[in-house]
Amino acid sequence: MRRIYLDNNATTPVLPAVFEAMQAYFGEHFGNASSIHHHGQETRAAVERARESVAALLGCRASEIVFTSGGTEADNLAIFGLTQPGQHVISSTMEHHAVLNSCKHLEASGVEVTYVPVDGRGLVDPDDVRRALRANTGLITIMMSNNETGVQAAGKVPIDVKRMGCDLLSISGHKMNAPQGVGALYVRKGTSLRPMLHGGSHERSRRAGTENVPGIVALGKAADLAREALVRSDLDQMSRLRDRLEQGILNKVEFCGVNGQGAPRVPNTSSIHFDCIEGEALVIALDLKGLAVSTGAACSSGAIEPSHVLTAMGMPPERARGSLRFSLGKQNTPEDIEFALSLIPSTVARLRELSPVYNKTTASSY
Ligand SMILES: Cc1ncc(COP(=O)(O)O)c(C=O)c1O
Repeated sequence: MRRIYLDNNATTPVLPAVFEAMQAYFGEHFGNASSIHHHGQETRAAVERARESVAALLGCRASEIVFTSGGTEADNLAIFGLTQPGQHVISSTMEHHAVLNSCKHLEASGVEVTYVPVDGRGLVDPDDVRRALRANTGLITIMMSNNETGVQAAGKVPIDVKRMGCDLLSISGHKMNAPQGVGALYVRKGTSLRPMLHGGSHERSRRAGTENVPGIVALGKAADLAREALVRSDLDQMSRLRDRLEQGILNKVEFCGVNGQGAPRVPNTSSIHFDCIEGEALVIALDLKGLAVSTGAACSSGAIEPSHVLTAMGMPPERARGSLRFSLGKQNTPEDIEFALSLIPSTVARLRELSPVYNKTTASSY
């Protein structure tokens, strides 16, 4: 059975060149990067090369990169590492749960958090952030692009942390063709960060624990490939495929629309609502026919509640529940998009036929 994967915001496949680069660090080069003998020095050099590569992708110095076990750990290290009791934090209502739940935890420990709203396109108004500032504001944590409507900016759009002026920025390896379980946090020089893990003095005492050398090597290679692809504008092709998919769906399916229409988006993502449809039912029906998509963040799969991202954008819960996220990857071809377009309209129509609430009048009144 043909299977097409359009859920690259949940995770991406490891690219063959990335797999090849990391492989030797499971066997041939196995040393502990903190050991002073030859074996350790070999892996230390590989970790430092990877640090240079990630730094080059983000526009910072290698010494400003801290390797972590992924995006969640990087987010937690940034939030708990910077915030002091008695301080105030600003975040937004559409953050990933790695940030939102960290902020909830801060609130429980007496830190006040202001969640600025987002507009119907999923954008934060900088004036809302300015107005929320207080004398004791210690941290502003807002995502660069949203994982449901359009993630994980690293490798998809050029990032220059110096120009952006941020002090901290998290990336997750498995969203950019490195394996799951590795990530990094950019920490601007001079930012004082309390470590979350207590142990050895790894990562300049910012993150204790023996380095995941194969994962870090993979992240470095993925960063090199992502940077080269950005220079070659490879992602223009991906955004053309995304637009073709979006246009095809809008042309062929009644009562649907793009969430966050008109907002600047990363090139691979499209979030679309299908009125009078349960998103989960559509995901399952499409999966049975060989197309993998999602209703939103993989870590929210199975949740009864509608997406907090879409409801934060002002979308009614029924419409949010009928939304699907299509996210393309480097491996997707025009044929994959045609395959998706051959399935989606008939599957939506079939589910609507079965729906007791669907008729054209109720659908058009949304
Ligand atoms: C925006 C965003 N932040 C954080 C994470 C968590 O990253 P990881 O899965 O590497 O812990 C994800 C992944 O789902 C994400 O999309």
